[in-house]
Amino acid sequence: MPSHPRVVLGVETSCDETGVGLVADGELLGQALASSMDEHARYGGVVPEVAARAHLATMGPVLRAALADAGLGLGDLSAVAVTAGPGLATALLVGVAAAKAVALAAGVPVYAVHHAAGHVAADTLEHGPLPSRSVALIVSGGHTSLLRVDDLARDPVVHLGDTLDDAAGESFDKVARLLGLGYPGGPAVSKAAVDGDPTAVRFPRPLLGRRDRHRFAFSFSGLKTAVARHVEQATADGAPVVAADVAASFQEAVVDTLTAKAVDACRHTGADTLLVVGGVAANGRLRELAAERCAAAGIELRVPRPALCTDNGAMIAAVGDLLLRADQPASGLGFAVDPSVVLAGARIA
Ligand code: KG4
Ligand code: ZN
Repeated sequence: MPSHPRVVLGVETSCDETGVGLVADGELLGQALASSMDEHARYGGVVPEVAARAHLATMGPVLRAALADAGLGLGDLSAVAVTAGPGLATALLVGVAAAKAVALAAGVPVYAVHHAAGHVAADTLEHGPLPSRSVALIVSGGHTSLLRVDDLARDPVVHLGDTLDDAAGESFDKVARLLGLGYPGGPAVSKAAVDGDPTAVRFPRPLLGRRDRHRFAFSFSGLKTAVARHVEQATADGAPVVAADVAASFQEAVVDTLTAKAVDACRHTGADTLLVVGGVAANGRLRELAAERCAAAGIELRVPRPALCTDNGAMIAAVGDLLLRADQPASGLGFAVDPSVVLAGARIA
């Protein structure tokens, strides 16, 4: 590391996590995270106004905790990066306002970054610089995409395929609700699945095996409906619904589809590295099957540790760090939040 590493502070508030992280030269220096997850549990999903108020209440303390964790002050910063979209508008606004205030106070530039680019960059904090070409499978509550990623700071991201309807994490959340497993659904379903038989119910593998324009696309809304039908039918027949078996069978259908398409995308693009990132990448069965299939196909698999898969501030700082080191122009203080911005590159304004 050079004697004066340039430190980037990253801010994340797109959903229910308030995250701040500090990164310099690809190294995570410190971070802090607060979550309003518990406040949403009784509604079965994130309530935007509740999330925004929680961000407002925790931003100051989280910011101070992250700086303390890194042993740094505002005077040590070289840039600020913030998620400007996509996400919940009122939640994004809190992070963007905070990031601009910090940048102004510290006299440093600010980068408006795309949340999903943060999920990809998170992996660099654990496994180092990205290879010159890789395929990224982003699976979160809002995204399910197969991307070709070259230089994340300089090149546009190429979408090989996206979900046509629900995101993978969203389908976990909906199935958890159907099975009465609570919120957030991903961890609840994977926990229930541990004691279940993944072959108990043969759920569909949507769009798998297609060779047309949907070869790398996903669709999870039909799968969720298939789970609902199964539960309805079993209930009507007076048969017991074994939540563990349904959870395991559903999880298997999702991870089978995700990993088969991801390996196919690597073969198709000639990439020998697959990144699996985003909240659903914390799923143990997805990690296991991806490892198995990548090993069989001779593909290097990179999956960040679970705490770097779910939303956090460090991943946004990691994007800012890549942009800064690539001498990319900053965003200026005039940018707005963009709740539904499509991923075209790391910087969105
Ligand atoms: O990346 P993330 O923290 O936030 C978004 O950008 O959406 O992802 C959250 C999503 C939620 O849908 C959650 O249920 C899912 O990731 N998730 C999981 C697991 N942990 C979180 N899904 C499956 N298995 C898990 N262990
Ligand atoms: Zn996310």
